Amino acid sequence: MRPADPAAVERGAATGHPHAVRVEQDLLAARHAVRAAAVAAGFDLVGQTKIITAASELVRNAYVHGGGGVMTIEETTGDGGRTGLRLVVSDAGPGIRDIDAALADGFSTGAGLGHGLGGARRLVDDFHVESAAGVGTTVTIVRWNR
Ligand SMILES: Nc1ncnc2c1ncn2[C@@H]1O[C@H](COP(=O)(O)OP(=O)(O)O)[C@@H](O)[C@H]1O
Ligand SMILES: [Mg+2]
Repeated sequence: MRPADPAAVERGAATGHPHAVRVEQDLLAARHAVRAAAVAAGFDLVGQTKIITAASELVRNAYVHGGGGVMTIEETTGDGGRTGLRLVVSDAGPGIRDIDAALADGFSTGAGLGHGLGGARRLVDDFHVESAAGVGTTVTIVRWNR
């Protein structure tokens, strides 16, 4: 992982420090942190909204299904120097038994609408779920600036 750019750290982005997701208010704090990072990374309003919405769903899942977790935000540089945001949302909950099923619209083991995980995937450029029963779930997403 590249070292954080001091200028980016200065403006509150790309620090990669963990945002705890333990209580309801942390969901809003996580949204605000993602918005700040998206603005700092130069995302336009549509891009900001997409990454914030995706992050919200993942953080809510960590909270609701995973018993709480952690989100990290990093600014990343890709091909041709384009900037992006990489978010990692992880928890040490029960894990997702069938990831393909969980990604399908309308699938929920809880009281949700079941559009969160699949919806989040459609809003970002890279989407990766790692999950194991009894170990937890880690979802990594990247959205590039355009
Ligand atoms: N972090 C997680 N830990 C355990 N199960 C999860 C997690 N995230 C998602 N899931 C499972 O995937 C299903 C689908 O997630 P989602 O599409 O967000 O729907 P919803 O949250 O509305 O149930 C959830 O109902 C749950 O069974
Ligand atoms: Mg959900």
